[in-house]
Order: sequence, then C-alpha cells, then structure tokens
Amino acid sequence: MITAQTPMPPLHRIRRSALLTWGVAVACAALAGCDAVIPRVTPELVGYAQRRDPAADLPGMEVARTLYVNRCNSCHSLNDPRAYDEQEWHTWMRKMARKAKLTSTQEAAMLVFVLAARETPPEKAQ
Ligand code: HEC
Repeated sequence: MITAQTPMPPLHRIRRSALLTWGVAVACAALAGCDAVIPRVTPELVGYAQRRDPAADLPGMEVARTLYVNRCNSCHSLNDPRAYDEQEWHTWMRKMARKAKLTSTQEAAMLVFVLAARETPPEKAQ
C-alpha cells in the first residue's frame, strides 16, 4: 500500500529497476489504489481551484486529475500534491510538463489542480 507516508525510493533506483516499476504499475492497476494519495475532485476542491482560475470547473478539474494520474507516473510514482509547497509546484510543473509532453493548456490546468489538491484537507479514512 502506497500512502503519503511511504518514503520515496531514491530516483536512481527507480530508473535502474524498470522491471520493478512495471510490476508496481500492474499491481496498481489490479488494486486500483495507487492514485489514493491524489485528492478526488470535489466541489470544495473546485472552490480552491477557482481562487486561482475563476474559469475552473468540476469537469475541467476531473480532466486535470485524470491527466495527472495517467501522465505523471510513467517515470516515477505519483507525487503527493501536499508534499511540495506552491512555489515548488510552479517549478516542478514547468519542468515536468516538458517531460510529460503536456500542452500549455494541460500544464496550466494541472498546476491549478495540484495547487487546489494540496489545499484540500485529507479525506477521512473509510
Ligand atoms: C519522462 C519521465 C518523467 C515524466 C513523464 C514525469 N516526470 Fe517528474 N521527474 C522525472 C525525473 C527524471 C525527475 C528527477 C528530477 C529532475 O529531473 O530534475 C522527476 C522529478 C519530479 C518531481 C520532484 C521529485 C523530488 O525530487 O522531490 C516532481 C514533483 C515531479 N517529477 C512531478 C511530475 C509531474 C507532476 C509529472 C506529470 C506532469 C511528471 N513528474 C512526469 C521524470 C519524469
């Protein structure tokens, strides 16, 4: 189970063990739990998003979350939006947009999504 508390393995190990990464990806697909750390899109999250982008809406944030989950875990595991502050996210999203070949529209929407996600209080354990 990957949680926010799971320590990130050093990146050089991730790159060296592509097979392990593949195995984890398959396990994630089977358990459908690896995106658990990424907040779901709720009206509350959309409210946070609208403080940065008044045009943000629920369907748009759903698209941004889906892109995040699908495009940001091919080289490393998904980064918890709460693990970085706002300034760090600006820097990383700029850098990673190129790696993930995002359009500028996708990059902007995903930045608004992660910044809103990091402000959303953690969901209660079910
Ligand atoms: C093509 C491979 C690749 C893709 C796709 C990718 N990343 Fe990365 N990511 C890396 C590498 C390599 C690093 C190591 C740092 C560097 O390159 O500067 C990294 C580092 C990071 C870090 C910093 C981790 C730390 O050191 O604390 C964050 C945050 C991050 N990526 C987020 C994302 C997001 C968000 C996306 C999707 C938009 C994404 N990454 C897609 C390769 C990738």
